[in-house]
Amino acid sequence: MKIVVAYSGGLDTSVILNWLKDTYSAEVVAFCADVGQEEELDGLEEKALNTGASRCYVDNLQEEYARDFIFPMIQAGALYEGQYFLGTSIARPLIAKRMVEIALAEEADAIAHGATGKGNDQIRFELTAAALAPRLQVIAPWRDERFRTEFPGRAEMIAYCADRGINVEASAKKPYSMDRNLLHISYESGILEDPWFDASAPEHKGMYKLSVSPEDAPDTPEYLELNFDQGICTGLAHPRLWEILSELNYNGEQDASLTPLWIMRVLNKLGGQHGVGRVDMVENRFVGMKSRGVYETPGGAILHFAHRQMESLTMDREVMHLRDSLIPKYSTLVYNGFWFAPEREALQALVAESQKNVTGTVRLKLYKGNIIAAGRKSPVSLYNPHIATMEADPTKAYNQDDATGFIHLNALRLKVAAEVHGA
Ligand code: ARG
Ligand code: SIN
Repeated sequence: MKIVVAYSGGLDTSVILNWLKDTYSAEVVAFCADVGQEEELDGLEEKALNTGASRCYVDNLQEEYARDFIFPMIQAGALYEGQYFLGTSIARPLIAKRMVEIALAEEADAIAHGATGKGNDQIRFELTAAALAPRLQVIAPWRDERFRTEFPGRAEMIAYCADRGINVEASAKKPYSMDRNLLHISYESGILEDPWFDASAPEHKGMYKLSVSPEDAPDTPEYLELNFDQGICTGLAHPRLWEILSELNYNGEQDASLTPLWIMRVLNKLGGQHGVGRVDMVENRFVGMKSRGVYETPGGAILHFAHRQMESLTMDREVMHLRDSLIPKYSTLVYNGFWFAPEREALQALVAESQKNVTGTVRLKLYKGNIIAAGRKSPVSLYNPHIATMEADPTKAYNQDDATGFIHLNALRLKVAAEVHGA
């Protein structure tokens, strides 16, 4: 038997890798997707081989992640339950897709992941695998009674590794769990399980990695401009753009347009400095329970906000309202793991159609946790100052007398009902 396992080099996945090898007498291939989790990936291959893998793939998927997953999702205006920018949800189908490709190329029998049986991630991995490789078996050690009995806690895992000479830095356990990628960091479980626990209190500010607290953000606001082409952010203007890019070790040409990946990185940096994009919520997991999550999504929050501003100027009202009515549906599909599903693809086609004229520039101000609109313009703006103005309209495109009949007809059924039922 041959198994491809999602591997990070951490305690859990090291144990899982070795346990799979033993339990299934399998050849195990390790796979680590770099989606911007900023973990040390140097030396990971060696670590995997030392842990018992026959081979280790480490793939940098960041550019694809930004271009083919994050940006189309932002284009759709996705926000789960009105608050969550879906930073973990949207990374899973990409990781699973690459894992499945490797499994097929390796002629493996199964893929395995370290997601628990109580979460959303297991569903996202497995629905993706089902859609892309229906015959591939999926192994989820955390759903296996044998695994759970053998490893009731971290101590047993550490002992297991020590026993087998598996080198893991068992760093002090944090009182919460973290998941990081290019779009966000999520914090869940542990001390956060109490929904009354105040994660915004100054004494907990050490938890956050991408942003400062709004209280600690600079007193001077910062302006930036984002360009959109058909609902996709294609560029940024900021007085210190080049400086920020060099701090981020940008390797591209100074006048080349920024890729989605670099746009994300710059916006994360700028947003983080001003404490924008923090969310603390109780959300509904697909498996049924409510769960409390704290998120930092600085760049994603900026993009989401700017995109909506661009739409406000350029999008037809009915198209916008129709698309808006679908946002909860689209967001739930992403959250629940139905990225590679015909209904998500159908909605995406509608989104693309709706974005044809979402083109222009948005100016924003970042200030102490707030993203503030500071202007928008577009060559295809639908905003007509002559029609909108309360001053005299030289073009006479709007006749105020027309409003009388318009209101009368709309009022008709309200009047009829009021006569019948009493006002
Ligand atoms: N609740 C969020 C979601 O379902 C974040 C999950 C975090 N996942 C993790 N493996 N730590 O998308
Ligand atoms: C997990 O169970 O692996 C993390 C939480 C989640 O997937 O929702």
